[in-house]
Amino acid sequence: MPVPTEDSALLAAFEARIAAGESIEPKDWMPDRYRKQLTRMMSQHAHSEVVGMLPEGNWITRAPSLRRKLSLIAKVQDEAGHGLYIYCGTETLGVDRHELVEQLLDGRAKYSSIFNYPTLAWADMGVIGWLVDGAAIVNQTVLAKASYGPYARAMVRICKEENFHKRQGYEICTVLANGTPAQKAMLQESVNRFWWPALMMFGPSDTNSPNSAELLKWRVKRKTNDELRQRFVNLTVPQAIALGITLPDPDLRFNETTGDWDIGEIDWSEFHAVLKGNGPCNHERMAARRKAHDDGAWVRAAATAHAQKQQARKDTAAA
Ligand code: 3HC
Repeated sequence: MPVPTEDSALLAAFEARIAAGESIEPKDWMPDRYRKQLTRMMSQHAHSEVVGMLPEGNWITRAPSLRRKLSLIAKVQDEAGHGLYIYCGTETLGVDRHELVEQLLDGRAKYSSIFNYPTLAWADMGVIGWLVDGAAIVNQTVLAKASYGPYARAMVRICKEENFHKRQGYEICTVLANGTPAQKAMLQESVNRFWWPALMMFGPSDTNSPNSAELLKWRVKRKTNDELRQRFVNLTVPQAIALGITLPDPDLRFNETTGDWDIGEIDWSEFHAVLKGNGPCNHERMAARRKAHDDGAWVRAAATAHAQKQQARKDTAAA
């Protein structure tokens, strides 16, 4: 019988807290793997929010009305805030946000594959709000019950804003669906492009998800990738029917036995190609992100100089 080490006693106590549904806070003891997994997941979530501004930012100057422009600007600004908010949450794990950003910029870190697809028509703004933010809401309302306190609490605030994102998107889709034949055709073409990539936001199938088991054991994830994907499909198909839009899946059918909408096979080769950097817009998105980072160097330098001057004043006053 191995002699329990201090760490194994700490691990046992940690796992008892998780099993009891307690919230783990930054100053609490946690296994290195728990910290590592959260840093990975939260930083990639933050990267996704920031990169996610690019596809929609592309249409701010081309919105069809002042009202649509205001709504799109508000949404894109929200996404920036979500990114910064989650970076703050990640920093409670003892990592430096600048290192996280470097990991994104040099290609070591991932961001959600969905943002590597182009936004070719105004309808894409509606479809992104409806499908992409709709998928995010399904994922993030469950993450609001995650065992790591700062992450769960961040999700509560972010989900409130995601609901506005989805509603404004679905309203755009409703107007187009009830508009001219050309507008409805533009909406259908946009859904054809975004439906399958939106399903890929939930990650690989459960049998191919190397991180899920650990994240579920430690109640960071509360549902599996496939369970959340299915929940999203069940919510979204009736919305598509209400719009009079056909989802691009010939195998989609309602399963009377399970009460679920069964979908066809996802093209995982496309998913892995995009993750490897070979999606339609990977290079464009990273080039834009690197340029924005370089263009912002003077702001970071000024903020650092100001902080150092403030600290020097405090040190002098304290001496
Ligand atoms: N895009 C890019 N990478 C993905 C991915 C996707 N759609 N789905 C999975 N991956 C990556 C994972 O990061 C992991 O790679 P890594 O080990 O190198 O990090 C690998 O594929 C295997 O996937 P797993 O299922 O094992 O990984 P996870 O258990 O981390 O599950 C996840 C993936 C479901 C995305 C999970 O990380 C998660 O829920 N993250 C938090 C939410 C999030 O990041 N959402 C991104 C959408 S952006 C958004 O919501 C913005 C909104 O405003 C629209």
